[in-house]
Amino acid sequence: MHQLGILLSGRGSNFLAIADAIRAGAIPNARIAVVISNVPDVPGLAAARQRGLAAIALDSRGRKRAEHDADVIAALRQYEVELVCLAGYMRLLSPGFIQAFPQRILNIHPSLLPAFPGLDAQTQAFNDGVQVAGCTVHFVDEQLDHGVIILQRAIPVLPSDDAHTLAGRILHEEHQAYPEAIARVLSGRYQIIGRRYVESAQ
Ligand code: GRF
Repeated sequence: MHQLGILLSGRGSNFLAIADAIRAGAIPNARIAVVISNVPDVPGLAAARQRGLAAIALDSRGRKRAEHDADVIAALRQYEVELVCLAGYMRLLSPGFIQAFPQRILNIHPSLLPAFPGLDAQTQAFNDGVQVAGCTVHFVDEQLDHGVIILQRAIPVLPSDDAHTLAGRILHEEHQAYPEAIARVLSGRYQIIGRRYVESAQ
C-alpha cells in the first residue's frame, strides 16, 4: 500500500480531489496516511478529520524554516509516508526537506509552467493576455515551481473570462490532473531524462 502525505495551508480542494480519487479506485493501492497543515484551523484540516484521516497542525509562524521542516519530516516518517503531495502548501521547502524525499515530493501549480511561477498565477496569466492557461503537476526541487513536469492540462481563456472565472476553470482541471499524476508516479512506469518525464512502455 502506497502511503501518501498531504501538506496544505488552506482550503484543501485538491486534497479532497485526491481523497475522492482514492475512494473511487483511480489511484490504485494508495491511502492518505496523514494530512499536515502549517496553518492551524484551516478548512483542509477539518475536512481531513471529518473523513477520519490523521490530521495535524504544525504551526510554522515564527519558526525557522529548517526547524519547522524537521518537525514535518518527523511526522511524515512517523506515518511512514512514501509520497508527499503539496496541495496548496504555501511555504517553501528547505533543501533538507527535498533531500529527505528525493523525487518523492509533488506539487500542483495553477499555470502552465514555466510560465507564471509564484503567487496568483491565474491572475498573472490573465493579465498577461494569454489565450491558453492551465495547471501543472511537477516534482518539487529546490527552486520555486520549477521541478520536472509530470502532467499539464490546458484550457482556453474565453472572451467572457475574468481572472476569477479563469481560476475556477483551472481549479477544475487541477482536480483531474493531480490524482492522475499521482497514479502515474506511483505506478513507477517512468524515467526522468534531464528535465523530461518520460513514461515507459506498458
Ligand atoms: C491551488 O490553486 C493550487 O494549484 C495552488 O494552491 C491552490 C490550493 O487550493 N498550489 P486548494 O487548497 O487545493 O483548494
